[in-house]
Amino acid sequence: MTISESLLKVDNIHLTFGGLKAIDGVSLEVRNDELVSLIGPNGAGKTSTINCICKFYDIDSGQIFFHGENITRLKPHQVARRRISRSFQNLDLFKGMTVLENVKLGAHINVRSGILADLLYYGKSRKEEKELEEYIVEEIFSLFGLAKYRNKHVGSLPYGLQKKIDIARALAARPMLLILDEPVAGMNSDETKEITEDIQKIREANISILLIEHDMDLVMNISDRIYVINFGENIADGTSQEVTANPDVIEIYLGKSFEN
Ligand SMILES: Nc1ncnc2c1ncn2[C@@H]1O[C@H](COP(=O)(O)OP(=O)(O)O)[C@@H](O)[C@H]1O
Ligand SMILES: [Mg+2]
Repeated sequence: MTISESLLKVDNIHLTFGGLKAIDGVSLEVRNDELVSLIGPNGAGKTSTINCICKFYDIDSGQIFFHGENITRLKPHQVARRRISRSFQNLDLFKGMTVLENVKLGAHINVRSGILADLLYYGKSRKEEKELEEYIVEEIFSLFGLAKYRNKHVGSLPYGLQKKIDIARALAARPMLLILDEPVAGMNSDETKEITEDIQKIREANISILLIEHDMDLVMNISDRIYVINFGENIADGTSQEVTANPDVIEIYLGKSFEN
C-alpha cells in the first residue's frame, strides 16, 4: 500500500435535523497511514460528520467510501465490521464494569449488533475470550499503561484515565481507521501530553486517524493534514502551515493569536 491510497472518502454529505442544516456539503479524505484533523467552532458539524461516517445518522445526500467501497447505506455494525472505530466526545463507558470488561466489549460491540449479541457471545467460546483478553492486556494495556487498572471499576477512575479507556475500547476492535472525538477535552496538561503520546503510538501501529480536537497545539503538531469546517461547510484544508495562514480560518476559528 502506498501512503497516497485513499482509505476514507466523504463526498459532499448533507444532513438536516428538522429544519436545521447540520452538515451542508462536507467533503474530506483520509489516506492510508495519515492523521487527518477536522476542526471548527462548536456546532460546526464535526461530531455529526463522524456520526454519518459510523452510520449513527443517515445522510440526506452525498456519499461515503471506505477502501473504495461505497458504505453510504450500510448499517452501523456493518461499518464497524469494515474496521472503523471511534471514541466518544461524551464518554460512553459502563461505569459499573471494570476496565477490562469495558475494553472487551469494544471488541464485539463494534462487530456484532448489540449488547444482547455480546452477552450471547460471552458464553460461546472460552478460547476466543481468552485470546481477546490476551490481546487487550498485551497489546493495548501495555501500550497505554493501563494494566494496573484492569480490574478497577471505570466509575472509580479519574476522567483523564476514562478518556484513555474509551480510546483503548475503540482499539479493541482492531481498527484500520480510528476516529477520535475531542480526546483531550477537559484534560490537564499532563493528561494531554500522555494522550498525545498514546496517539503517536497508535500511528506507529499503522492505524489511520481522523481527529477532532480544539487543542490547537495538539492538532498543529500531530496532523498530516487538517480540514476546517464551519456551519456544516468546508472552509479550508491543507497542512498546519497552510491552515494557520488562511485568513478565513483565522477569522472564524483560530483568532488573532495565529496571525503573524
Ligand atoms: N441529534 C441532534 N438533533 C438535533 N440537532 C443536532 C443533533 N446533533 C447535532 N445537532 C446540531 O447540529 C449542529 C452540529 O452539531 P455537532 O455536529 O455536534 O457540532 P460539533 O461537533 O462541530 O460541535 C449543531 O447545530 C447541533 O446543535
Ligand atoms: Mg462535537
